[in-house]
Amino acid sequence: MAIGVAGPGSAWASAQRRERLEATMRGRLGRECVYVPSCRFGLFVALRHWCPPGSRVLMSPVNDDVIFFVVLAAGLRPVQAPLNPLDASIDIDAVPEKVWGSLSAVLTTNLYGNPDPAPGLRARCDALGIPLFEDAAHAIGSEVGGRPVGAWGDASVFSLSKHAGAQAGGVLAVADPRLRETMETSCAELLAPRRATAELAYAVRPYAEAAVRGLRLRRAAWVTLRLLGLTEREEIRMPLRPEELARAVALAPDLAAHDPWVRVDMHDYRLRSGRFRLARIGRRLDRLDEVLAACRAGTELLLSTRWAPPSTRQGDTGRAQPLFRVPLLVADRDAAITVLARRGVVVGYLYDPPLDDYAGGTFTDVSPAPQAARWFARHALPVDPLQARAAVEVLEEAGVRPAESPQSLTDPAAEGPGPVGG
Ligand SMILES: Cc1ncc(COP(=O)(O)O)c(C=O)c1O
Repeated sequence: MAIGVAGPGSAWASAQRRERLEATMRGRLGRECVYVPSCRFGLFVALRHWCPPGSRVLMSPVNDDVIFFVVLAAGLRPVQAPLNPLDASIDIDAVPEKVWGSLSAVLTTNLYGNPDPAPGLRARCDALGIPLFEDAAHAIGSEVGGRPVGAWGDASVFSLSKHAGAQAGGVLAVADPRLRETMETSCAELLAPRRATAELAYAVRPYAEAAVRGLRLRRAAWVTLRLLGLTEREEIRMPLRPEELARAVALAPDLAAHDPWVRVDMHDYRLRSGRFRLARIGRRLDRLDEVLAACRAGTELLLSTRWAPPSTRQGDTGRAQPLFRVPLLVADRDAAITVLARRGVVVGYLYDPPLDDYAGGTFTDVSPAPQAARWFARHALPVDPLQARAAVEVLEEAGVRPAESPQSLTDPAAEGPGPVGG
């Protein structure tokens, strides 16, 4: 395994591998695609291209904090949207007209693979003459309105760390094919040079993880990941450090100033990818359809349970979407996480509290109707569909209760609560 030996041959091999990845994604989406080292990096590039500093961007408060920090790093003001409490998609009708009129862009999340209402958002953005961005990190196989998620926005970004499981890599797709070269140039200007040590850490990561997992050393696995700089948060949200953040925001747009926030869980997010990394990502992407089929089957199983949200949007084929995680809605999420963890089913990708509660009005416009986001964030138990059978067994055995219906959040006239799936 030759890692980090840079030369003309290696540059040629890297270019070939990048082009192959881009061609695969172009085939899936029908759009021009540029390989990026991470989804967050691709989003930064897109936001910088379309949005002048100071612009206001509508986004979901139930989202990874890293994305929030990317918006800040691009010099933009996040505006938190009201959400549908059952799947955390943007509730278009609940966004006040005054807010629509103040926006310069909309960013979707497609949380856990459940699509945001892209056709409606596209129509709104067209009417306002503003760009739509799709964060398709969780939604590489999802569809909405007869198109893949990622084929609605002026630009969309994918993470190859999620379904593809490559633990690195992303794709920036653009609606206007003429922008491909511009995007490539912007990426090249912002990429940090490749580091042999980073390539080595990437190469050995699966072996290190497998070794400690094989020995059932969960704590050791966690410490190893920390040492490799691959995980660093102890709570769901990373510490905000508001004073330091305010200093960084004053320098925005500036990715380097926001690096301590943007890099969390992935220190290589802006590093030029080496050929070994590109080769592994390519192999993972080649197996994507297999993974998506397994995710769809697991999603169908989880959606047939009493903890399933009733309104999860189906794909256009009438089948379940191949979700990245299935947000079951349970009464006591933390208790459910504990019983699952005891049986080796690890739950991640929690986004609680919502971003406006986490960061406050200094750093974001808060949602005009925050209750639904809070309800979803508190009750959603994101289960990996690839572990569906084991998870259902544990939840049944433990007698985990579904969350009470959030009807009263959207319908003040509603009678008392009933179980969510009922
Ligand atoms: C919704 C969402 N978008 C984007 C990202 C960033 O993806 P990446 O790690 O490839 O930058 C994440 C990371 O988990 C995410 O959860």
